[in-house]
Amino acid sequence: MAKMCCLGSNNKMTMTIRETVDYLRALDFLTAQLPRESLRLFFIPSFTALSAASACAGGIDLGAQNMCWEERGQFTGEVSPLMLREVGVSIVEIGHSERRHIFGETDEMANRKVLCALSHGFTPLLCVGETAEQRACGIADEILRIQLIRGLRGVSAADAGRLVVAYEPVWAIGAGGTPAAPDYAGEKHAVLRQTLCALFGPAGAEIPLLYGGSVNLENCGPLALLPEVDGLFIGRSAWEPAGFYRIIQTVLPIFKIKNGPC
Ligand code: 13P
Repeated sequence: MAKMCCLGSNNKMTMTIRETVDYLRALDFLTAQLPRESLRLFFIPSFTALSAASACAGGIDLGAQNMCWEERGQFTGEVSPLMLREVGVSIVEIGHSERRHIFGETDEMANRKVLCALSHGFTPLLCVGETAEQRACGIADEILRIQLIRGLRGVSAADAGRLVVAYEPVWAIGAGGTPAAPDYAGEKHAVLRQTLCALFGPAGAEIPLLYGGSVNLENCGPLALLPEVDGLFIGRSAWEPAGFYRIIQTVLPIFKIKNGPC
């Protein structure tokens, strides 16, 4: 079977419900004809838009930007896996750099969320990435290994096939970010792949590994060509349906050649 290519967008705290619905209708219209056997398209809107989004997402999988590791209780401001299941979510984004660095989330929290997401039937999308300071100190590889080993603690090799991992260097993300050069991203993806294989054996080789951080129309092709890149996780450049569609059109032929026909 061809390896799954994942192309998705995290909408962060950007679109309202109305804007999300308009966006998804347009994106679903543009992408409806794309074969899905080995392509997973996903969009991760705000929590408040999820319910309306699930009614119009069509062939686009929906994700949540965060999730509590408990089902119910005294956790003000958190959203439970039971609530996410009610609104048609299939992916849960865990440990995004903005969660880690603005809201203080740790690898241990990410780990609880990964285990909880798996036990509730979601695809955990674990985000990892080094800061500019860690890169400058030459410890990026160690940081990535630690984030994976801690974040995926207790996940069985049997469940590893349900994971998705995104490499998002913190310095590459957002309006002030600089996209990683393909050579650099390629090296780090190789480190992540080696770590996943060390953790899970052959199952580690099958985990989709996405690159994220200032992906745009110009750099999406060179990034998609990297051997250990199985997809892209995009912010700003995907927030217009036509912009996302152009990126999809650019990289799909590359992934088809790398992974085998869809
Ligand atoms: P940008 O593409 O806007 O840098 O955002 C990437 C991201 O944070 C995806 O999770």
